[in-house]
Amino acid sequence: MFSLMYETPVQWVHDMEAQGTLELLVDHAHCELKAAATMQALVAKNPTCDLIVQTLPRFAMEELEHFEMVEALLRKRGGKLTEQDSNPYADGLHRGSRYKRTSLLLDKLIIGHLIEARSAERFYLLSEHLQDRDLAEFFKSLIPSESAHRIMFLRLAEDQFSVPEVEKRTAELRQIEADLISKLPFSSRVHSGPKI
Ligand SMILES: [Fe+2]
Ligand SMILES: [Fe+2]
Repeated sequence: MFSLMYETPVQWVHDMEAQGTLELLVDHAHCELKAAATMQALVAKNPTCDLIVQTLPRFAMEELEHFEMVEALLRKRGGKLTEQDSNPYADGLHRGSRYKRTSLLLDKLIIGHLIEARSAERFYLLSEHLQDRDLAEFFKSLIPSESAHRIMFLRLAEDQFSVPEVEKRTAELRQIEADLISKLPFSSRVHSGPKI
């Protein structure tokens, strides 16, 4: 369903809910901000790629809208945005991508695809299994847009690189993503690992 090699256990949602979801919303808000910033940076670094220039600004605005929604929900629930440490998931993916890398742009697009896929997977799990049904509905409302972003990143990769090249590298990075997220420690983050 999400084209990922590691399937998050449902227990991850139960552990998250037991720990409290306000911190998760803080991390989620930062993820949306970071997604918008990454998309803008891709446009700035690839000004001659028409599809990137014509597609990503709209999606970056959508990520900023998500940020506003998450931040508003956080405040409504008595929480507040705080500073966030670096993201071990995104950092780990970019570190892992140095292995066998032939193109930085190809890797950035595929990593974008994988992060969107993992976010959609986590939002789906949260929407299905949270006992807090209001929060579950909120996550559900974001799934179509994160799924569209997942597909859009692959299209951008296929516009710039050959299909076999994209497929080969996607398979390699998908494995790196699975190894990484299955071993990250559990924490109140959208992309944390499972509790052991
Ligand atoms: Fe988003
Ligand atoms: Fe997204």
